[in-house]
Amino acid sequence: MANAWFETVAEAQRRARRRLPKSVYAALLAGSESGQTYRDNLDAFAALGFAPHVADLPAKRDLATTVMGQEISLPVLISPTGVQAVHPDGEVAVARAAAARGTAMGLSNFASKPVEEVVAANPQTFYQMYWMGTRDSMIQQMERARAAGVKGLIVTLDWTFSHGRDWGSPWIPDRLDLRAMVKFAPQGLSRPRWLLDFARTGRLPDLTVPNVAEAGQPAPTFFGAYGEWMQTPPPSWQDVQWMREQWAGPFMLKGIGRLDDARRAVDTGATAISVSNHGGNNLDGTPATIRLLPAIVGAVGDQVEVLLDGGVRRGGDVVKALALGARAVMIGRAYLWGLAANGQAGVENVLDLLRGGIDSALLGLGRASVHDLVPGDIVIPPGFTREIGA
Ligand SMILES: Cc1cc2nc3c(=O)[nH]c(=O)nc-3n(C[C@H](O)[C@H](O)[C@H](O)COP(=O)(O)O)c2cc1C
Repeated sequence: MANAWFETVAEAQRRARRRLPKSVYAALLAGSESGQTYRDNLDAFAALGFAPHVADLPAKRDLATTVMGQEISLPVLISPTGVQAVHPDGEVAVARAAAARGTAMGLSNFASKPVEEVVAANPQTFYQMYWMGTRDSMIQQMERARAAGVKGLIVTLDWTFSHGRDWGSPWIPDRLDLRAMVKFAPQGLSRPRWLLDFARTGRLPDLTVPNVAEAGQPAPTFFGAYGEWMQTPPPSWQDVQWMREQWAGPFMLKGIGRLDDARRAVDTGATAISVSNHGGNNLDGTPATIRLLPAIVGAVGDQVEVLLDGGVRRGGDVVKALALGARAVMIGRAYLWGLAANGQAGVENVLDLLRGGIDSALLGLGRASVHDLVPGDIVIPPGFTREIGA
């Protein structure tokens, strides 16, 4: 067999594209409308440069940090993603990989694996929820996650139900019944290795979301739960405050881009925020998160842990975000490509690549620790940053 190890995230993405049925790959690629935000997340990182030294460099570099009370061995966490059918072990494989590499796992409530199994694989798991359903059902979900032993709650606030993509949206069935199988067969058969992975487990890809099941009820399908979410009136800041009060432990608000929203997040008593545009899957035209980061760090960085996600593909990207004030970053597609390419080992491979890249950048910049990075380590082109909201 060819060497399963890949040397960059771009190569993992190529392998994922080759291995996955077309619609599954397209569901991972995601993005919305024209893909402007998706591209800007990547282009903005590429527009930043480094200002390296050549001597007096540190022989050893320290990558460890803490996020929401959890000690992690590198400043990279798994961002929650609600994607099904990539790999039979799904979120459990990702959780194992994160645990093996000493970092924390964000688990989406749209995930395909029960929170109890994921926490067993990685005790450093944060549970992510959207504002959906009734207050009672949200409390039930939080209590279940707490009982499972999760270490914190992530509430994702940015979603506008924008579904069109200029390059076309994939067809994904509600459940894999016989009719769906017949329709899906040509795609599945064109990717025999992916099918074989599932065939070995004796199970079909599961398109249900077990963590949002009402007590004693079977898990709803992904689209059943999504429909309920669409019917739920969007939350006010009072609702977010209510959620924070229900959850006594570490609490992150994900999806912040504006300064006023960052301040409101602090007012709720959040432990952390993630500057995020949902990886460009949400409102197209929202600026790249790395452009928004410096202003937000300036406004609230001394009151709340500020993380960033969106467009991180290299260790160098992580270092750029940290130099501009992020405490850590979260990754989405990078680990999904790794999972698709080579299961748990593929996710470990991605985390190893990021670790290696962070270490190289620290060496070049002459920084012995991720905590020593400063904006002066980065070359920022004129007009790069964006400040939105008062
Ligand atoms: C396929 C896919 C599914 C996602 N599902 C969720 C989700 O269920 N909850 C959530 O908070 N974010 C979700 N996200 C957003 C990620 O958590 C993260 O914000 C984004 O992927 C970061 O950008 P990147 O993919 O460029 O790293 C999803 C992203 C992708 C690509």
